[in-house]
Amino acid sequence: MMPPKVPPLTPQEFELFRAFIEKACAISLDSGKMYLLETRLRSIVLETQSASYGDLYRRLKEQTSPLLRNKIIDAITTNETLWFRDQAPYTVLQEVFLPEMLAQVRKGRQRVRIWSAACSSGQEPYSVAIVIDEFCQRAGQGALMPAQFEIVATDISTQALAVARLGAYDEVAMKRGMNDSHRARYFKQNQRYWIVDPKLKRMIQFREFNLQNEFASLGQFDAILCRNVAIYFSQDFKVNLFEKLRRSLVPGGLFFLGSSETLLYINTSFKPRLHKNSTYYVA
Ligand SMILES: C[S@@+](CC[C@H](N)C(=O)[O-])C[C@H]1O[C@@H](n2cnc3c(N)ncnc32)[C@H](O)[C@@H]1O
Repeated sequence: MMPPKVPPLTPQEFELFRAFIEKACAISLDSGKMYLLETRLRSIVLETQSASYGDLYRRLKEQTSPLLRNKIIDAITTNETLWFRDQAPYTVLQEVFLPEMLAQVRKGRQRVRIWSAACSSGQEPYSVAIVIDEFCQRAGQGALMPAQFEIVATDISTQALAVARLGAYDEVAMKRGMNDSHRARYFKQNQRYWIVDPKLKRMIQFREFNLQNEFASLGQFDAILCRNVAIYFSQDFKVNLFEKLRRSLVPGGLFFLGSSETLLYINTSFKPRLHKNSTYYVA
């Protein structure tokens, strides 16, 4: 049987979706991304039996439930992620951040808060939780406890968050950065899936959150990871985003970008720091 035909995306239809996506999630698509948009939305055009991309847009505007809107956002966002991505931020957490937190806990601090601000399917916050758990074990009985940590993990994609909350990963996902010793210690196999240890889950609160929102409701953090997401945003939005992130950190709080990202050409009051050749930032 021939696959059903979808009329090609027209420049006018591209413009309608481009404007919708920028407003809905700040992702900035220039005209070079027409093919990307067309391929990512094609299955939704078919699934909704829309006659064209324009027809899909009309349905989107007429829908009162967020289902179609969420489906389109899920299709447009790039949820690519892996365990211990780039390693560098995890080394800084282990060698710089956690020793400082341990010293502060010894002086009476009660809680430590970390935000994974575009957590995708959860590999980033679970990797942070593993680093914390290992550090606490090394620090010795009662010195620092996983229960003192709160990791807030947010993303706009409902689909990616559903995987993160479930904490079940197939072999392909596990092969992307999870070593054998962590796999044996923090996962249990259940048929095709590897299920994350509930003790890591207890450290994390997953929440649907759009980085366009105001951040005050999330409170203040001691460290924030906002990695491999700002690359999709316009320059103006980035400037505003980094300023809001800085204000969400306590003075001296640490900030981490992806290894291919930099604040070099962005006017922020973050101070860059170098640890073993990798850059992180201090509020
Ligand atoms: C490429 S992933 C990065 C995941 C992880 N931080 C890492 O470095 O591996 C980018 C994530 O940003 C999320 N995202 C895109 N726009 C967003 C927005 N406006 N608000 C919140 N999350 C957003 C996507 O859903 C996606 O899961």
